Amino acid sequence: MKPSDPILLFDSGVGGLSVLAELRKTLPDAPVIYAADLAALPYGEKSEAEIAARVPALLGRMVERFSPRLVTIACNTASTIALASVRGALDVPVVGTVPAIKPAAALTKTGTIGLLGTAATIRQAYVDNLESEFANGKKLLRHATPELVAAAEAKLRGEPVPVGAIESAVAGLRSQAGGENIDTVVLACTHFPLVATELADQFGGDVSFVDGAKGIARRIAYLTQGHGFTRETSDFMVATGDPDRLQTLMPALETYGLAEIRAF
Ligand code: DGL
Repeated sequence: MKPSDPILLFDSGVGGLSVLAELRKTLPDAPVIYAADLAALPYGEKSEAEIAARVPALLGRMVERFSPRLVTIACNTASTIALASVRGALDVPVVGTVPAIKPAAALTKTGTIGLLGTAATIRQAYVDNLESEFANGKKLLRHATPELVAAAEAKLRGEPVPVGAIESAVAGLRSQAGGENIDTVVLACTHFPLVATELADQFGGDVSFVDGAKGIARRIAYLTQGHGFTRETSDFMVATGDPDRLQTLMPALETYGLAEIRAF
C-alpha cells in the first residue's frame, strides 16, 4: 500500500459529507475520494433488490478504478441492506454505517427515542435487531423522511431548505403515540446531520441528536493505525450521472476539501 492510496467514502448523494467532516477532524492528512451515486439517488425509495444488486457492483468498479486502502459506506440505507455482500465482494476493509440506536439508548432520560431514516432503512431487520439488542425496555419510534434527503441536497447546492420538509419530519415523530416524550433522535441517514440545525429549531431545545459519523471516523482511524498518509493530488468527488449538472455543489464541496467533481 502507498501513502497516497485513498480512503473511498461512498453515499448515494451528499449525505456522506457529514461523515467526511468527522473524518477530516480525526485523520486530516488522509487522502479521500468522495463517491456519490447521484444517478440513483434517492436510495431510500428503492427496493432491497435494487440496492443489493447495484451497490456491490458499483463499489467493485470503483475499487478497481481507484485502488482505495479502505471503503466506507457512508449511507445507512446501503449499509443496512448490502454491507455483508459488499464485504464479500471486495478485498479491502469495508466500514459501514449503523443507525446509532446504541448511543441513543444510553443517552435518553425519558426512555423514548425517535429515529428518522429513509423508508428503506426503517423497515430493515437490521434496525429491528439493533432495537432489540440495545433499546430493550425503551420505546423507539421510527419515521421515514425522504423529504429530508432532498432538503439536505438542496441546502448543499445553496438553495433554501424547504420548511415543510423539516416540519413534517418532526410532526411524523411527535404525532405518534408517546411522541411527546422523545428526548433523543437518531439521525439514521447520513444526509440528516446536514440539516440538524433546522431540525433542532423545529424540535425545540430539549431534544438531542445522535448519528454514526464520529464512530465511523474512529473505526477508520483504528483500521488505518500505523498507515502513512500523503496527498499527491487534491481530494475530489466522483459521481455517477451528469457532473455538469452538479457544479452548483462546488462551493459546498470546497468547504469539505474536495476540489472537483469527476464523472464515473
Ligand atoms: N444518505 C443515505 C442514508 O444514509 C440515503 C439517502 C438516499 O439516497 O435516500 O441512508
